[in-house]
Amino acid sequence: MSAEPAPSRPLRAAIVGLGMMGRHHARLLQTSGVTTFAGAVDPGGDRFGAVGDPSLVFPTVSALLDASARGADALPEIAIVAVPTEEHVAAALELVGAGVHVLIEKPLAETPERSRELIAAIRAAGVHAAVGHVERCNPALLELRRRAQDDQIGRIIHVATERIGPFPSRIRDVGVVKDLATHDLDLVGWLGGSAVETLAAQTQHRMGRPHEDLVNVVGRLDGGATFTTMVDWLSPTKVRRTRVLGERGMLVADTLTADLTFYANGEVSSEWDASRTLRGVSEGDMTRYALSRREPLLVELEAFCALVRGEPDAGVVTLEEGLAAVELADAVLRSAASGETVRMADGNADGERAVR
Ligand SMILES: NC(=O)c1ccc[n+]([C@@H]2O[C@H](COP(=O)([O-])OP(=O)(O)OC[C@H]3O[C@@H](n4cnc5c(N)ncnc54)[C@H](O)[C@@H]3O)[C@@H](O)[C@H]2O)c1
Repeated sequence: MSAEPAPSRPLRAAIVGLGMMGRHHARLLQTSGVTTFAGAVDPGGDRFGAVGDPSLVFPTVSALLDASARGADALPEIAIVAVPTEEHVAAALELVGAGVHVLIEKPLAETPERSRELIAAIRAAGVHAAVGHVERCNPALLELRRRAQDDQIGRIIHVATERIGPFPSRIRDVGVVKDLATHDLDLVGWLGGSAVETLAAQTQHRMGRPHEDLVNVVGRLDGGATFTTMVDWLSPTKVRRTRVLGERGMLVADTLTADLTFYANGEVSSEWDASRTLRGVSEGDMTRYALSRREPLLVELEAFCALVRGEPDAGVVTLEEGLAAVELADAVLRSAASGETVRMADGNADGERAVR
């Protein structure tokens, strides 16, 4: 008789920040069965009614930890940090200081310097941590990447992301580059198979806020593919589209609907390299894939719990990858301000880039 693997014990989990994002994390922490609920923190209380037991809503992290300390086994083992970006470091430092493993919403922190400070503190505390670049858990993007890695479209020529829509007025602390484009700056290298080598950017400030509300980025990856990223808070409709163009065709993901479509080249281009002649492509077959659509935030939570349980290949976004996205956002803003192309190897203080 073969032994069944022991079911994993749910981890005790807390959510810090009960806003637009935190309320979704709160729902999963209470209902998914992956965790038991240790409490929530928000100085504004539970505005969205996201927590079933009001006695588990605390105004500060220290109040959560104090209350937990009263019951020996009530201290959270993991916490998700979903406070405004500029508050990430302070909240995460308090949690890791108490030995709590942290899943930090993207972007990791507001600057590369603050991100490095946080990473050093997490390493010193010896806890597990990951960054919530949840787009990597989107079923359409996971499948797109799997197919690209399986060589379905041949060598990658270009990665294009588009993330446009109206302004969510709750965002006060950062512009569209740090708030939204960090998704894309993380994705282009993850999907394109190599890190960003150079980039140039243009921004616009149309809403009278101190921060930019539109950014266009054009760049190149180490592997030779180019990329473009268009992000704004100025468009009257929401579009979330990622396109990966290869020598044999193009994969297009719509991350709002989690749809993935493959457009094959009409002509077989296997002799492309041999002939060194660009013959162009014609339209071939189009296939829309039926995907199983698991909730990305739940996939992310399960991966983080697996990491905390010691699974070496849990599939989380690492702190170094989170830092790389923040460094890219910083480079985008520098490029937009100076009008210069930024070379990433020069742009990083330590000259290292995350290996994907
Ligand atoms: N992964 C994604 O797709 C995604 C999407 C949206 C937002 N985010 C990220 O999530 C974070 C939160 O964004 P949001 O849209 O939910 O913002 P939000 O303004 O809706 O919510 C933030 C909440 O944090 C609370 N808060 C502020 N300071 C706090 C503190 N010190 N301790 C506890 N709570 C505190 C606020 O009262 C508010 O309720 C940001 O970093 C953002 O970039 C990620």
